[in-house]
Amino acid sequence: MRRKIIAGNWKMNNDVSGTVNLISEIKKELNGKIVNADVIVCPPFTNLETAYTLVKDSSIKLGAQNMYYEESGAFTGEISPLMLKNVGCEFVILGHSERRTVFGEDDQIINKKIKSAIKHKLKPIFCIGETLNEREKGVTFKVIETQLKNGLEGLSENELSNLIVAYEPVWAIGTGKNATPQQAQEVHQFIRSLIAKMYSQNFAYQLVIQYGGSVKPDNAKELLSQPDIDGALVGGACLKADSFVKIIEAV
Ligand code: 13P
Repeated sequence: MRRKIIAGNWKMNNDVSGTVNLISEIKKELNGKIVNADVIVCPPFTNLETAYTLVKDSSIKLGAQNMYYEESGAFTGEISPLMLKNVGCEFVILGHSERRTVFGEDDQIINKKIKSAIKHKLKPIFCIGETLNEREKGVTFKVIETQLKNGLEGLSENELSNLIVAYEPVWAIGTGKNATPQQAQEVHQFIRSLIAKMYSQNFAYQLVIQYGGSVKPDNAKELLSQPDIDGALVGGACLKADSFVKIIEAV
C-alpha cells in the first residue's frame, strides 16, 4: 500500500517567529494523535534552519520550495541543493506552477533541477498541471503527458525511487475552486498509467501522486479517498495549524 503524504507549501509566507509559532502549533495539535500519513512542511528558504531545529525531534519532515540545479557559483539569488541538504531538507518542490508562470521556468530547467535533486539525495515533489484554458480546450492529458515526459527525461526508474508527483491544476490553485474528486482521480489515473508505460507497472503502483489546488479540511477526505490520490500538497490551508492538521487527520 502507498503511504499517504501531506505536504504544506507555505509559499512566501511567515517570517522566523511565524515559523516557530506555526510548527510549534502543528506539533502540539499532532501530539498523541495516530497519524496515517507522512507530514512535510516547506517554509521559505530563510526559515529552513529554524524549522529544522523544531522538526528534527518529531515525525515532521522538512522540504524547500525550489532550488537551482548547480552546486555553487555565480548564480545571484539562487539556492543550491547542497545548501538545502546542509539545513536539513529532505524534500524539494520543483516545477510548481508559480515557478513556471511567474518565473518562467520551463520543462527543461525543471528536468535539470530534478536530476540535480536526485544526485544530491533530495526527494523531488514534481508539480504538473494544466491551466483553465488548456482544460477547456480539452488538452489536459496532452499537457500532463508533455510535462511528465520532459520533466523526467533521461531518468531511470531506479533514480526516481524517491519521486513524488503532485498534480496541481493551475485553475484550482489559490482560487478556492478545487478539482472535483472525479476530475482529480481521472488525471491521477492517467498519470499512473503513463508512468507504467514509461517505466513499469510496479514502479507506477508504488509512485505517490499528490493532489494540490484548494485542498481544505472540508474537501480533503473525499479527495484523499480516491484510489489514485496518495496525499495532498496544500497551500493556503497549511498556514493555520488547525486546518493543516485537519487535512492530515482526513487521511
Ligand atoms: P492552494 O492550496 O492555496 O490552492 O495552493 C495549492 C498549491 O499551490 C500547493 O503547492
